[in-house]
Amino acid sequence: MKMESSDKVKYVLWFAQEHVNFRAADIESVASIFNIEVNYHTEISDVPYCIVELPSEKEAHLLASRCISLRSVLELWGHGKTNEELHNSIQQTPKDRMYPHFVSEKSFRLTVETFCKSLSMKEKVERIESFSYLPIEGNVNLKDPDVTFYLLEYFGQDSNNIPEQPYELFFGRWVADGQRSLIQKLSLKTRHFLGNTSMDAQLSLLMANQAKIVPGSLVYDPFVGSGSLLVSAAQFGGYVSGADIDFLMIHGKSRPVRPNQKVREKGESIKSNMQQYNLSSKYVGVLVADFARPLWRPDVRFDAILTDRKFFKIPQNEL
Ligand SMILES: C[S@@+](CC[C@H](N)C(=O)[O-])C[C@H]1O[C@@H](n2cnc3c(N)ncnc32)[C@H](O)[C@@H]1O
Repeated sequence: MKMESSDKVKYVLWFAQEHVNFRAADIESVASIFNIEVNYHTEISDVPYCIVELPSEKEAHLLASRCISLRSVLELWGHGKTNEELHNSIQQTPKDRMYPHFVSEKSFRLTVETFCKSLSMKEKVERIESFSYLPIEGNVNLKDPDVTFYLLEYFGQDSNNIPEQPYELFFGRWVADGQRSLIQKLSLKTRHFLGNTSMDAQLSLLMANQAKIVPGSLVYDPFVGSGSLLVSAAQFGGYVSGADIDFLMIHGKSRPVRPNQKVREKGESIKSNMQQYNLSSKYVGVLVADFARPLWRPDVRFDAILTDRKFFKIPQNEL
């Protein structure tokens, strides 16, 4: 992680507060896929914000286009440990960076987001009014604005000990959202074919990023099970294949795992999962094989082996 300080454009990586330990790997893998130089002004930690410098907004969009851990990326216009520091820092941000977004042609919204504290509407309005010195000329549009400004206030992570004032404040312009919507799209709750160790969608996607799957990658999972990792790899454009020692699993005949399901539906299989997500064109195939017995010719090459061998039981609320 390269830490630097300069006058270049800074961005806030705003993370979802889940699988915190995978954040850094997610960002670094995606940065490596797109060959993006990320200069860190603060460390990636369990705090859901990290300030970085990126070569341009294009790179902010690229990071957001693949990162699963990211909620959003904002262009940073102000940062401080107190309100005074925040507003001083906004006033020092070059006008030519902010003012093009304040013109009358652009509608806007200013959203206040707090971490570990809820604010009343009155408190939110007071916060919004504290920015009235900014010469914003556009109309307010809460539903579909041309530009969204965010005030982020961080009150720590101890819900039993919430401070009166935030520990840290950030102000900036929304640039892009990360790929959190894929977690919902590929959720096990609606997955056609499930096994009792199907990897959950979020971890599968994080793993596919760490494996740096790109369109055209040839991917193999030697412990494929119900093929969750193949789904996430195919979602990112990989051509996917796998093997498993369990004949019944590979043929979609293993015992159903959903509480109310007595028998498997016709056609339940890894292949039907690919069809469910419109990823059939990425499906190479799966076979029954024992990993302990050499299967492939020595000259066969895969771009990525994406696998998990550990036994995770799916939580009941995921079924
Ligand atoms: C943790 S599960 C993988 C779950 C998979 N990622 C999924 O989403 O369903 C491990 C799998 O390894 C398979 N397995 C165990 N020993 C094996 C071996 N020697 N060769 C191939 N597969 C094996 C098991 O049958 C099981 O399906």
